This record gives sequence, C-alpha cells and structure tokens, in this order.
Amino acid sequence: MSPAALSLCILLQCAATLLSPAAGGNTVLKGADPGLEELSTNGKPLHGGVKYNMRKSLDLDQEGCYLQTGKKECLEECGFNATAKTIFIIHGWTMSGMFESWMHKLVSALMQRESEANVVVVDWIAMAQQLYPDAVNHTHDAGLQIAGMINWLQDEQQLPLEKVHLIGYSLGAHVAGYAGMFVRGTIGRITGLDPAGPMFEGAEAGKRLSPDDADFVDVLHTYTREALGVSIGIQQPIGDIDIYPNGGDVQPGCALGDVLAVAGNFMEVMKCEHERAVHLFVDSLMNKDHMSFAYQCTGPDRFKKGICLSCRKNRCNNIGYNTRKMRKRRNSKMYLKTRADTPFGGYHYQMKMHVFNRKQADNADPTFHVKLYGAHNDTANMFVDIHDETVGLNLTNTFLVFTEKDIGDLLKIRLSWEGDSETWNSVWKNIKKNFWAWNAKPPKPVLAVRRIRVKAGETQKKFTFCAQDPAAIEISPGDSLTFVKCRDGWEVKPRKRLAI
Ligand SMILES: *[C@@H]1O[C@H](CO)[C@@H](O)[C@H](O)[C@H]1NC(C)=O
Ligand SMILES: *[C@@H]1O[C@H](CO)[C@@H](O)[C@H](O)[C@H]1NC(C)=O
Ligand SMILES: *[C@@H]1O[C@H](CO)[C@@H](O)[C@H](O)[C@H]1NC(C)=O
Ligand SMILES: *[C@@H]1O[C@H](CO)[C@@H](O)[C@H](O)[C@H]1NC(C)=O
Repeated sequence: MSPAALSLCILLQCAATLLSPAAGGNTVLKGADPGLEELSTNGKPLHGGVKYNMRKSLDLDQEGCYLQTGKKECLEECGFNATAKTIFIIHGWTMSGMFESWMHKLVSALMQRESEANVVVVDWIAMAQQLYPDAVNHTHDAGLQIAGMINWLQDEQQLPLEKVHLIGYSLGAHVAGYAGMFVRGTIGRITGLDPAGPMFEGAEAGKRLSPDDADFVDVLHTYTREALGVSIGIQQPIGDIDIYPNGGDVQPGCALGDVLAVAGNFMEVMKCEHERAVHLFVDSLMNKDHMSFAYQCTGPDRFKKGICLSCRKNRCNNIGYNTRKMRKRRNSKMYLKTRADTPFGGYHYQMKMHVFNRKQADNADPTFHVKLYGAHNDTANMFVDIHDETVGLNLTNTFLVFTEKDIGDLLKIRLSWEGDSETWNSVWKNIKKNFWAWNAKPPKPVLAVRRIRVKAGETQKKFTFCAQDPAAIEISPGDSLTFVKCRDGWEVKPRKRLAI
C-alpha cells in the first residue's frame, strides 16, 4: 500500500482514540483554561466549546489569555486592541488531541511580523478529535461559534471586519469558511492552508471554504495526490487565488526515503506534504526579503513546461502572507516550484531554443542538460525536462529551469548532450530505417542550436543568449555548446506602449 493510501486509511477509518497521543506532552500554548464549568453554564455541551486563546507574549510557554463572548473584562485583561489586525488561527482534525508543533511556529512568526495584531488561537480540539466524519460534521458548528465571537467583538469593540484574517489549516480551513459565511458582514481575508479534501471535494460552495466567505480568500494546496479516489488536501480551486506549490501533489523533501530516514513513520510522510502549506506560509512571514512568486497557469503540466512565467496583468502573485488581494478570475490556479526546506523560494527561468535538424538526423533522441553561470555562482548540470516529451526537432522547445540559489545575473549557459546516441529508441529507429544495412554503424546525429531565449520569472527580465562561436552551433552526443549574451540587443526590452 502506498503511503498516501495508508494515511488515507488511517484518516478515514481508524478511531482517533485508538491512536495514542505521542508521549512527551504538549507544552505549546499553555494557558489558563477557562474552566469547563464556565463553558457548561453557557449551555454549551462540554465537548462542544470553542476556546479562544489570545497570545500576549512571544514566549509561547507563557500563559495565554482567553477571550469569551459576553465577557468584557477578558478583552481588557488580554489587551485586545480593536483597531489592530485580528488574526484567528484554526487547527485541523486531530488524533492526538493536542496542538501540533507547527502551531508554535505559526504563532511566533505572526507575532514577529505583526507585533500589534491580536493573534488568537482557536481551540476546537474537543470537536476535532473525533472520527474524521464526525469532525467534518463539527466544522459547521465550530464556524458558527467563531462567527458568534466575531459578531460579539463587532458589537462590543466595533471590530473592523476588514482587519480580520482567519487562517485555517486542513479541516480548519473549512471551519474558517463557515465562520466567514455566518458572520455578520464580510471578513477581510481567509487563508486556507491545504484545506481538507475528503468529504469536501466537489461539495457545493456553501459546504466548504469558498470565495464568498471573505473579501479575499487565498489557498495553498500541497497534498492533492490522489489515493483510493480521494486526496487529503482538496484538489479543486476554492479561493480567489489557489496556489499549487510544486504542482500541489509532491513536495520536495517529502519523499518516502527522505522522511522515513528522519522520522521512520508513514504518518510523517502525510504530515510532511499536508503540513508543507503551513511551513510555506511561515516562511513567507519570516523571509519578507525574498518573496516567492506563483504564476498563473491552466495546469501543472503547462507550468512544468515553462510556458507560464508571466507577471503581466496580475498573472503572478506573492505566496503566503504576502499574497496581494485580487479578484477571482476564471482560472484562479497558480504554480511555482520550491526548495525542500526553508527558505523555500528559488528562481525560475523559462528557456526557449529552436533545435535545428538540418542533416536529417531523425534518429536523434537527444538528452540535453544545461548549466547556468551567474555573476555570483554556477548551477549544477541540470536535466532539460521537456516534460515526458522528447526534444522537438525543427521546433522551438520551451522548458523550465529552477535553481535553488541566487546565482546573480545570468552570464553564460552551457548546453550539453549527455551520453551517446545509442538509446534503444534510436537504435530501433535506425534498424527500421536501414533495414538492409542494419549492421552498418548509424551516423552520429548532428543537431544545431543557434540561440537560447531566457526569461527570468523573479525579475521578469528577458535575454537572448547566442552561441559563443556563431560558426559552431552544431551539437552531437557527448558535445556541449556555450551561449553568451548576444553581442547586441541581448536584453529584450519590454514592448513600449505607443503614446498617443
Ligand atoms: C492599537 O493598534 C493600532 C493599530 O495597529 C496602533 O496604532 C495602536 O498604537 C495600538 N494601541 C495600543 C494601545 O497598543
Ligand atoms: C451531524 O451532527 C448532527 C447532530 O449534531 C446529526 O444530526 C447529523 O446526522 C450529523 N451528520 C452527519 C453527516 O453525521
Ligand atoms: C528539418 O528541416 C530540414 C531543413 O531545414 C529538413 O531537411 C529536415 O528533414 C527537417 N527534419 C524534420 C525532422 O522535420
Ligand atoms: C557556490 O555554490 C557552491 C555549491 O553550492 C557553494 O559551496 C559556494 O559557497 C557558492 N559560492 C558562492 C560565492 O556563493
């Protein structure tokens, strides 16, 4: 059974109580418990209460402070500042009944970035630590209660709704959706961090997070790989903008081998990919100087081909906390590649090269690699992935190159044709072609590349690189060609608008 299938099985079928919480306890977010008695005197069932732990100090082991609807004194005690931003963090389904370690990281990153904001951890653990379908059923109620809290804050403190930001992870994203739907007025922003898929995929807009739930709804999708017909993270776009890092299905650093080597546990594989959305968001709070961009594209395959790296007409956006508000459009999907660890951002290049086949080397099935030389550093030799297709001959090939480090201004590109031509494919083509002379050694295929056009996603600059020696543009297996900035006009200036 694949790890994805296994984790889904655990998610959907196994009782939460069967899985004992990890030893060691959870010291994150200690706080004065408002007391179960108080909750029950509110007429709420004991297990049904949502608690609001407002963080006051960066030291997360410090006691928090609880907000309670109807209790004005709590607002003062907690130092609630109604004119500042108010951020609610909403956790997801839980087996352990404890906050997971990401909560600590997210809270501290938010408090550092927005020192004046009211950062409130929504604790609906009692309703979320249930069989998955029951926890799903409780998202409605949890959202309703949060809406009640926000309505009370509006009445009591004239809380401006446009400054309210709900951040929900997994099942918590749909709780945020309900809260936004039930609240009086329109919440400023909801961020869905890999919103849960099972029982929400394909559901009508009123029963999941949707663009109607806030003025701006942005979603990060990190674990949409399907197993047994469902995926842990929802696949369909459900926001004004839906960002699918690394295609939204496989996250770098989360391969079975990578994770098992560190954690030795299948659940960790699921956690790695699902939770990646949270870590990308934390990264966007911490690394303001190096923002990661996502680019609008109709699908992951086109993105991987390097076709979509445009920022024109709002086609790109920052990811995570820095995402700029934009209206929902017909295609809300955006893509980017990331590194395996923080800082997750890297550098995208779109490259286009026309591969000439002048010598009828129709048997050529080239495997190209490129190496980029920058002002600061060079990259490794990287496979030119035309994405499951062979390099097109007499055609312009577009491909995406992603570098993990900033190599500075691109100075030089080396294109190499690895290995020899004797792939099974080319041998077979040759046998078919030269049937009567099949034992004759096939001629070495010769192709030619004159220039490579480059567009850097992060800077949106376009350049043209020409063969270093314009007289030598031919390439064969085992050879390489070097391209440098063309002598004149290598920087392609953006087309100017005609002034009328
Ligand atoms: C409340 O927040 C506003 C806006 O962030 C800020 O200008 C003000 O100083 C804060 N008030 C207090 C008492 O911290
Ligand atoms: C959800 O819970 C309510 C009671 O709280 C119950 O009536 C309803 O049948 C539940 N729905 C599902 C799908 O379990
Ligand atoms: C590519 O074009 C050349 C002429 O420029 C032609 O001789 C050759 O047959 C073409 N090859 C393919 C595969 O179309
Ligand atoms: C260039 O990259 C290599 C390999 O990643 C690294 O060891 C080296 O420190 C880098 N050099 C500079 C100047 O950044």
